[in-house]
Amino acid sequence: MTDANGFQRFQGTEGYIASKPLIDAVNCAVALERPLLVKGEPGTGKTTLAQHVAAGLGMPIEYWHIKSTSKANEGLYVYDTIQRLNDARFGEGDVKDIRHYIKYGPLGRVFAASERQVLLIDEVDKADIEFPNDLLRELDEMRFSVMETGDEIVAKERPVVIITSNNEKELPDAFLRRCVFHFIDFPEPDLMKEIVDVHHKNLDATLLDQVLIKFYWLRSQRELRKKPSTSELIDWIAVLLRSGISKKQVEEHLPFVGTLLKNEQDTEALSQFEESDTTLPSSWSELGPRYQQ
Ligand SMILES: Nc1ncnc2c1ncn2[C@@H]1O[C@H](COP(=O)(O)OP(=O)(O)OP(=O)(O)O)[C@@H](O)[C@H]1O
Ligand SMILES: [Mg+2]
Repeated sequence: MTDANGFQRFQGTEGYIASKPLIDAVNCAVALERPLLVKGEPGTGKTTLAQHVAAGLGMPIEYWHIKSTSKANEGLYVYDTIQRLNDARFGEGDVKDIRHYIKYGPLGRVFAASERQVLLIDEVDKADIEFPNDLLRELDEMRFSVMETGDEIVAKERPVVIITSNNEKELPDAFLRRCVFHFIDFPEPDLMKEIVDVHHKNLDATLLDQVLIKFYWLRSQRELRKKPSTSELIDWIAVLLRSGISKKQVEEHLPFVGTLLKNEQDTEALSQFEESDTTLPSSWSELGPRYQQ
């Protein structure tokens, strides 16, 4: 496909392996100037995506990490009345000019910026349900008014907004309508090999195979309460390399399991399995038809 219209602005970066559907979703959001809502299991690269979209598009990035107490207004601006009171008490600053005490939040800053920027609104589902509703107008119109001064801040360049969610709460339909949506599927082994290569260059291919066989086997255990993710796999490989463990040892058992499993029921189930006579799989064919190589 040629790109005479300049649609394919984002093409991925060396440090982030993006599937074709993910690249398309980013480019749709950039072209439509609408937020991109990204969902997916924890550790599948949602937050990192925003950093790499900014790098790939050559734009600066602003971060807005959402907490349970976050309010939409804080993203726009806060009026620092305490500072103003203090300045008035100690005779400092220009207390007559309220504008000195209007502090823009991440959304306010990207609107006010003279160049187009990327804004990451990370983990939007952490806040209460009103949060996304309260941002609808600002994200649509990319403008807001500062009540205290009457100033209107209008985005000179509509930012590229990337919103992540871990699905802790449903997002309102009116909010979803305004976004481009992408779900990051858990990477299949071939894509995972590329992702691992970004973090651990030129890993021995047979060691990587053994590592991935064990990893996907672990993930396929139904009784597992918390499946290990991409980020845990990367950590696990880092530990395996640091410890200098041999391929043979990884073939036979799962060392340093604390980097992969994060609760006691899961580690207990695994040690019971290892104590029984059953051997761990050491070839893709043992993982069933889905993983035939
Ligand atoms: N496609 C990918 N390419 C390169 N690295 C990746 C990819 N996916 C995940 N990673 C790596 O995995 C780690 C976790 O990624 P990240 O923090 O972005 O996940 P997340 O989806 O935001 O997780 P959470 O939901 O827990 O916040 C990072 O070190 C990141 O570099
Ligand atoms: Mg994240």
